[in-house]
This record gives sequence, structure tokens and C-alpha cells, in this order.
Amino acid sequence: VKRVRVQHLRRMKEQREPITMLTCYDAVTARIFDAAGIDVLLVGDSYGNTYLGYESTVSVSLEEMEVATAAVARGAKRAFIVADLPFGSYEESSERAVASAVRLIKAGAHAVKLEGGIRQASAIKAIVEAGILVVGHIGFTPQSENRLGGPRVQGRGEQKDAVIEDAVAVQEAGASAVVLEMVPADVAKKVTRILRIPTIGIGAGAATDGQVLVWTDMAGMTDWSPRFSKRFGDVGGALALAAAGFRDAVKGRGFPTEENSF
Ligand code: KIV
Ligand code: NA
Repeated sequence: VKRVRVQHLRRMKEQREPITMLTCYDAVTARIFDAAGIDVLLVGDSYGNTYLGYESTVSVSLEEMEVATAAVARGAKRAFIVADLPFGSYEESSERAVASAVRLIKAGAHAVKLEGGIRQASAIKAIVEAGILVVGHIGFTPQSENRLGGPRVQGRGEQKDAVIEDAVAVQEAGASAVVLEMVPADVAKKVTRILRIPTIGIGAGAATDGQVLVWTDMAGMTDWSPRFSKRFGDVGGALALAAAGFRDAVKGRGFPTEENSF
């Protein structure tokens, strides 16, 4: 299999072939998504709340992101791997941002993602100058959820220009793609038309160059998922059935049988 690379993502935008991206945090799942032909695996800091049980993404550490990134890299042969710089690992200086990005690349990522447009342009530029691919993330940025007053759509009405300016700033700083989260569809469409680099939407309508979902939402692992998401399966239900089947078999002395024994 041929590895998906940055030029392939750009070509998909040019040829209007939608780019598919799912979050991924371990090797087992990476192998499955890779074989399913998902173009980009995002080791998102959503790892913190979806997998590690933290209240929010801000608690996840760079060390935890390195472990998850390395696992995904071991599981995926084709997909392009993007890893999130977690909260607190890049904001204080460009030097810190580069050092943190280097660690995720060493762990196996092909690019790093960080949140913020104009406010993070210098960090993006510094990381790119270090020879590392960057994916931007604008609109609703979960790491600053408290400042934004919760998960709210960004770029409505008068805020529209601010989102467009952030998108342009991310591109001009040298990013290779940008995630647009919870942005009105018409704003995302305009940003997608203006930018040369691919836009990947989540809660940003159908006109972006690609779509990303948190895999546990996508596969039905959770009781609740946001309106912009969609369940494409009932993996949580299937897993619960498998566990219950094992429990019943062992309790009822139906497993193991002679076939499973030596
Ligand atoms: O961490 C994450 O899951 C993300 C996606 C929602 C884009 O950043
Ligand atoms: Na994230």
C-alpha cells in the first residue's frame, strides 16, 4: 500500500474528492480504519475525554499523546497520521511549540495539529520552519472552551470575517490543511473556496474539502454524541453483547469446551 502524503491531500482538494479523517488512539483501531481506507487518522486530544476518562481535553499530557501516536503509527500502513499538540504544550513560546511538535513526530506522526488562527500564526510558522507539517484548527477550539463559553458555533454574523481571517492566517503561516469546527456551512464554504490548502470540517457543513468525526461518536460507542456527528454503527452495543456472551458462557460452564482445551 502507498502512504497517503500531503500532496495527495492537496490533489484530493483540487479534484474535489472528499478527504476522510477519523480520530484514532490505538493500534487495534488504527489497523481497522487503515484497512477501511480512511485517508487521515487524527490522534486528537479528544483521547483525553473519549478514552482516558478525563472531564475535558485540557488534562491530556504530551506524554499520553506520544503513547497514543506511537500506537496509531504502528497500526496504520496507509493513512496520513496527524497528532494534536495538547493544551499547554505550545502556547508559551515558539521554541516550546517546536520542541513539543518534534516529540510527536518522533513518536510517529506525519503532521501536528494545533488550535488557533491569527493568535497561533507564529507558532505554526516556527514549526513549519523546523521541517514539520502543521494542520490548523479554527472555529470552535475545545482547548479554549471556557473562554469561548462552551461548545458554540463560531463565525455567525459579524464573527464571519474573524473566521475567514484566521483561516487565511493559518494558510499564510505555512499550514498544510485546516480543521474547521462548528462553523456555519456558508462560512466554511467561503473559506474552502478562498484557501489553497484543504479544509476538513466537523460541524461545518458539506462544502469543506473533507470531513472528520470522533471515532467513538461515529461508531456508536457512546450514549450521547453532538448533533453534527452521526452514528454509522453500533460498535458499543456489539461489544456489550460480546462481553455478556462471554460472561454467560463462563458462568454457565459453556466455555471453555474440549475444543478450547489442551
Ligand atoms: O481532538 C479531536 O478529536 C479533534 C477533532 C474534533 C478535530 O481535534
Ligand atoms: Na483536538
